[in-house]
Amino acid sequence: MSEIKPTIAIIVAALKPDLAIGFQGKMPWRLRKEIRYFKDVTTKTSDPSKINAVVMGRKTWDSIPARFRPLPDRINIVLSRSFQNETVDTNVIHANSIANSLSQLQPNVERVFVIGGAEIYNELINDSRVTHLLLTEIENTNEDNQIAVDTFLKFPLYSTDSQWRKQPKSELQKFIGSSITLEDDISEGDLKYNYTLWTRRAG
Ligand SMILES: NC(=O)c1ccc[n+]([C@@H]2O[C@H](COP(=O)([O-])OP(=O)(O)OC[C@H]3O[C@@H](n4cnc5c(N)ncnc54)[C@H](OP(=O)(O)O)[C@@H]3O)[C@@H](O)[C@H]2O)c1
Ligand SMILES: *[C@@H]1O[C@H](CO)[C@@H](O)[C@H](O)[C@H]1NC(C)=O
Ligand SMILES: *[C@@H]1O[C@H](CO)[C@@H](O)[C@H](O)[C@H]1NC(C)=O
Ligand SMILES: *[C@@H]1O[C@H](CO)[C@@H](O)[C@H](O)[C@H]1NC(C)=O
Repeated sequence: MSEIKPTIAIIVAALKPDLAIGFQGKMPWRLRKEIRYFKDVTTKTSDPSKINAVVMGRKTWDSIPARFRPLPDRINIVLSRSFQNETVDTNVIHANSIANSLSQLQPNVERVFVIGGAEIYNELINDSRVTHLLLTEIENTNEDNQIAVDTFLKFPLYSTDSQWRKQPKSELQKFIGSSITLEDDISEGDLKYNYTLWTRRAG
């Protein structure tokens, strides 16, 4: 039997320039349209007989209110060093390493989205199995309203030897499909943001 190799993408929203993503175990902001984009992109499949999977750390799972989890219409893979590998509920898989979680995927999985948190993102950004990065780049437009943050991505995106390349918007549109509308420079409160796609250079 051949190994199943769905596309693996990181999806994350981060505040520039430091790529902050969290504060005291929670999200530093609540962006209504961004939440909808996340849901649409991670749920949609091009093949209607398939389903996507989301991979998250145990702390991110714990931070989702019980009534909102598992994230619906997606296989939820939760990573903890103290888990056994097992299917614990409909669409919920526990795994003790990323490799073990991927080896448990059924052939009906189209894409795998890594949805956080910081520890998981920072471990997987250099993993060659992750080929796509869906980054929502956020800017604070109000200097007088500093956003409290304590958790950051350590992504080597902007270094000169970076293996990651930001793709034109047309490539992002191709990746997410034409049924999802891409807006530019969305404003919610003091925050402005864009959806971007980065890919890892081959080799
Ligand atoms: N801005 C965004 O888009 C975004 C998205 C998601 C999360 N966040 C933020 O990120 C923060 C949470 O991040 P976090 O780093 O504290 O937690 P996390 O990455 O969600 O979870 C960390 C836990 O995952 C497990 N784990 C990590 N690496 C593993 C591995 N290789 N194998 C097996 N298990 C592994 C461990 O669980 P055990 O301790 O049980 O072993 C570890 O304690 C929050 O502030 C959250 O709001 C932001
Ligand atoms: C988890 O599954 C992997 C492969 O599927 C296996 O190699 C590993 O021993 C398993 N670990 C546990 C604790 O069950
Ligand atoms: C990932 O690789 C880059 C460049 O090789 C390195 O600078 C960075 O520290 C690595 N990140 C992690 C989390 O290992
Ligand atoms: C979003 O993209 C537009 C057009 O490329 C750019 O002018 C703007 O500065 C970007 N905003 C953010 C928050 O990155």
